[in-house]
Amino acid sequence: MLKHLSAAHAPFTRFFGYGIVFGLSLVLGSVLMAKVPYENEQIEARVALMNTQKTALSVLTDMASGRRAFNKRHARDAKNTLIETTKGIKPHFKHIEMDAHTLARPNLWTNWEDFELRAKNAQRAAKRLNPRSADTLRQSLPAMIKGCHSCHERYKLQDREFTTH
Ligand code: HEC
Repeated sequence: MLKHLSAAHAPFTRFFGYGIVFGLSLVLGSVLMAKVPYENEQIEARVALMNTQKTALSVLTDMASGRRAFNKRHARDAKNTLIETTKGIKPHFKHIEMDAHTLARPNLWTNWEDFELRAKNAQRAAKRLNPRSADTLRQSLPAMIKGCHSCHERYKLQDREFTTH
């Protein structure tokens, strides 16, 4: 009887255990988020947008390199995320917002049209991602990665620690 009961409870206990871990990671996540010292929500939001695209992109690079098994549905989801996030770049950077921690270079606002163009090119590359197979993904990924880099090399500081001002 006792054995039976505890067996019946096992899935619940396991679920509960996962719940705690998940809950903890949420709490930890928000503590970490709260520590991000951006001065305003717009900067926070644009960095969050960028981190979302980083996560989506790494799903695809992991699949292309074989670090992660190819999965068409996940690849398609990541592609759709990248289409949306690259579309979001322009509205997220529309206003001139700087603080002590941002990696955005202020010249992006004095070269706004060029910045927009690079955002558009990145979006085009996102649309052209081909998640049909690992092979087609591998072929279409370099243009996407180039789309990210081409803007970063012009409008993003590599790292605050290495700047000299
Ligand atoms: C049109 C310009 C542009 C494009 C395209 C772009 N980024 Fe960014 N990205 C920026 C700027 C500017 C920042 C700095 C934002 C800040 O700190 O306020 C940034 C910051 C980031 C950050 C956080 C800063 C860091 O170095 O840790 C990540 C991650 C990132 N981008 C990933 C990507 C990925 C992945 C892509 C392509 C899918 C991409 N970005 C495409 C302009 C761009």
